[in-house]
Amino acid sequence: MNKDVIIALDFDSKEKVFEFLDLFKDEKPFVKIGMELYYAEGPEIVKEIKKRGHKIFLDLKLHDIPNTVKKSMKVLSNLDVDMTNLHAGGTVKMMQAALEGLTREDGTRPLLIAVTQLTSTDQESMENDLLIRRPIDEVVMHYAKNAKIAGLDGVVCSPLEAGKVHGVCGEKFLTVTPGVRLAGDAVGDQKRVTTPENAKELGSDFIVVGRSITGAKDPVSAYRLCVKQFIG
Ligand code: C5P
Repeated sequence: MNKDVIIALDFDSKEKVFEFLDLFKDEKPFVKIGMELYYAEGPEIVKEIKKRGHKIFLDLKLHDIPNTVKKSMKVLSNLDVDMTNLHAGGTVKMMQAALEGLTREDGTRPLLIAVTQLTSTDQESMENDLLIRRPIDEVVMHYAKNAKIAGLDGVVCSPLEAGKVHGVCGEKFLTVTPGVRLAGDAVGDQKRVTTPENAKELGSDFIVVGRSITGAKDPVSAYRLCVKQFIG
C-alpha cells in the first residue's frame, strides 16, 4: 500500500460523519474509524463508509486474552476493512492469535498494525503510571520487534520513532503515525507530535490526522495541505 494521509473520523454520530465526508467532492480520503464512532453506530457505519468508496482503518485497539482477541478479529475480518489494530502490550501470543483470527479462509486479511505506546504517553507517565522504567524509545522498539515476530504488518507509533522502527524492523514494516499537526495548530492531549512534512522526512508510511483536519475551518483545504506536505 502506498503512503497516504488517513483522516481520523472522531465523531459521535453518523450524521456528523456524513456531513463531514460530503465536503469531499473530488477525493475519497482514507479514513480511520475509532472507538467513538464504532461504539456509537456499530458495524453498519463501517459498511456504509466502505460503500462510499473509502479505504478504512478500523482503530479499535484490541487488548484481551489471546482467545478473545482471535475470535473478535474473526468477526472484524468480515467487515472487509483495509487495516485494523491491537495493543502490542497484549504480548506476542495475543498478536499471533489475532492474526490467525483475522485471516480469512482464502488467506486474505486486512493489514494488522500494533499500537506500541500511545502518542499521548510520555516518559514520565510511562514510568509513573505503568512502572516501565526504560527509555520510551527502547520500549517502542521492543514492542515493534514483538509485532514483527508475531507476523504483523507494522506499528502505530509517533512519527518521531518511524525511522528507528524501520531501522529495527525493516523498510517494509509499516509505520502508521498519529500525533501529526499542521504548523500552528493546538497540540491538545498529544505529547509526541510533528508536522506532515516532518513525518515524511522521518519515514512515516501513513499519517493519521484528526483535529488538524476535522477541526479546521476548511477541512478539505487542510486535508489537501496534509497530502501536499506528506506525499508531495
Ligand atoms: O486529533 P488527533 O490528530 O490527535 O487524532 C489522532 C487520532 O489517532 C485519534 O483518533 C487517536 O485515537 C488515534 N491514535 C493516537 N495514538 C495512537 C493510536 C491512535 O492518537 N497511538
